Amino acid sequence: MATLAQPSIQFARLAHPAPTAADVREAVLANPGFGTYFTDHMITIDWAEGQGWHNASLGPRGPIALDPAASVLHYAQEIFEGLKAYRLKDGSMALFRPEANAARFNASARRLAMPELPVDVFVSAVRELVGADREWFPSVEGGSLYLRPFMIATEAFLGVRPAKQYKFIVIASPAGNYFKSGAPAVSIWVSDYTRAAPGGTGAAKCGGNYAASLVPTAEAFSRGHDQVLFLDAAEHRWIEELGGMNLFFAFADGSLITPPLTGTILPGITRDSLLSLAREEGLTVREERYSLDQWREDAASGRLIEAFACGTAAVVTPVGKVAGTDGEFVIGSGGPGQLTQKLKARLTAIQRGEEADTHGWVMLLD
Ligand code: PLP
Ligand code: COI
Repeated sequence: MATLAQPSIQFARLAHPAPTAADVREAVLANPGFGTYFTDHMITIDWAEGQGWHNASLGPRGPIALDPAASVLHYAQEIFEGLKAYRLKDGSMALFRPEANAARFNASARRLAMPELPVDVFVSAVRELVGADREWFPSVEGGSLYLRPFMIATEAFLGVRPAKQYKFIVIASPAGNYFKSGAPAVSIWVSDYTRAAPGGTGAAKCGGNYAASLVPTAEAFSRGHDQVLFLDAAEHRWIEELGGMNLFFAFADGSLITPPLTGTILPGITRDSLLSLAREEGLTVREERYSLDQWREDAASGRLIEAFACGTAAVVTPVGKVAGTDGEFVIGSGGPGQLTQKLKARLTAIQRGEEADTHGWVMLLD
């Protein structure tokens, strides 16, 4: 289990004048959905040129004041992360690989010309918030506390250059299933739009990537699909990732493929974890380009037996159907496959402290 020394910044604790009433909170926790409800607290830390990170606090969650000229509102200088806290069977709480999120946050910060946040400060911020909102773990099966650390450029300045002032914030949201449909396998729409090009921001977790994915996502929804799939920018042939998840392909010969990290897809922490678990399961794992045409052909021939999406919000979700302007095809029987279920079961068992954490992925809180 990972541990943490004293953080290099101290958080002022501001009392909450009116936390949510227990009965209201319990009603939310019985059916949280995803991303709709928020806990009582938030973390904020400021950064200014010449001063660095300062003014750290844990206080009541609420609106923030921003100058209308703040750079984030004009040039979208914003990055974010997504990770989950889990309540274990014995009542204790745990985070899954928070240092990996901190490292990716800093990689995103570098790409968006923003200041990096020391890993220990990122992790302490998240820990402080979970501690304050410990009553907010959903009571539903598979429930968790979804944490959303993010950073915005707050300087009031309309010239186009990196801002000189920023705010780091962490909010939390009780989370159940990401997909509203609750279907056993999701249906995905292959978009004709491009998400990321070589040299762009595809590998960074910045809001702008998601803004650009909204029209393709809306198109997928309006056609009755659950997620959008993006292909590469140059040839529109190679599978990259979904709007908010990475993809894996499982074959009858015991091999597993996921697209490589070439700079245009997000380096998912779930993806990385599953690569390790799949190798432990004895699968031949390859990070390798895979084309949509090949996918269609392999699904038809039976060479490909399963495909699944993965991410913090989506966990591990089977892909049952793929549709695009060239028609559609079904994966396997269109439902969850055995390998997908096995990998999901192992990952969630580790996250919830039910399987030994041999990788040092689980950070116990309390
Ligand atoms: N790809 C995109 C575009 C995402 O938004 C996410 C979610 O964070 C992922 C992949 C999966 O990343 P992770 O497993 O770290 O949540
Ligand atoms: C996550 O899985 O944490 C994400 O950020 C994906 C988003 C679509 C909710």
